[in-house]
Amino acid sequence: MQEASQRKGSRIVLALDFSYEVPQNRGRILVKAQSILKNVHPYICAVKINHHLVLPLGTFDGVQQLIEQIHRQGLLAIMDAKVNDIGATNQTIAQYYFSAGFDALIANPFIGWEEGLRPLFKVSQLLNRGMILLCYMSHKGANEGYGQTIIDPETGEKTLQYISFAKKAVKYCADGIVVGATCPQKILEVKHVVSGKVPIYSPGIGAQGGTAKEAVKAGADYIIVGREITMAADPTKAAEWLLDSIKGI
Ligand code: XMP
Repeated sequence: MQEASQRKGSRIVLALDFSYEVPQNRGRILVKAQSILKNVHPYICAVKINHHLVLPLGTFDGVQQLIEQIHRQGLLAIMDAKVNDIGATNQTIAQYYFSAGFDALIANPFIGWEEGLRPLFKVSQLLNRGMILLCYMSHKGANEGYGQTIIDPETGEKTLQYISFAKKAVKYCADGIVVGATCPQKILEVKHVVSGKVPIYSPGIGAQGGTAKEAVKAGADYIIVGREITMAADPTKAAEWLLDSIKGI
């Protein structure tokens, strides 16, 4: 990511999301995605794909074509599957996404390490791909889970769930953690915990109310932006504007 980001002069991860189309029109989604990529790629360093594309286009069909385009443009491809199951299932999910060409996968740390995250990290290390973990999500309800106060089982002390996840991300040598841009104060706190060892990815910009500037100022290494670009009247201008807004911070 560091290399891609330096080469492209950008820390923007494009969330290539589109709203629902009836299945007969799903071919239109691939055309739209290809066209946005073609125009926006000079302003971004990676592309994050979610169910918005995997469900209508298929992993080894349209999505794989997009991954090839993403790689030709010198970008990385991240799969936002928020993997959240038992280890054996997680391993199979990871094997499919990595064999389709994805460079990194997002997983949910609530599942824990043994028979949860461990098999995911094992597969990713074998294939030299990345594992990115959720830490504090960008939506309002995130507070109910990621924001709850817990008792640390090792120390017996009260702590916050997202602080515990940030510490675990360092311990597991995760390749990234996700902290919402809607709560820059939490980015700041998490930055202090990970102290440069794990890069912070921050979604929730524009449509969800966060700003790129505040997120980067607080310590986000990469910002994840979807609708602000994909639904803009002119996606290229929107991406250019976003990049300008964080230049020099
Ligand atoms: P928008 O359109 O709101 O899209 O810019 C954001 C994209 O990122 C996903 N998202 C998240 N992914 N942790 C994640 O791993 C989060 O906290 C989070 N918040 C938003 C969202 O599904 C969309 O693809």
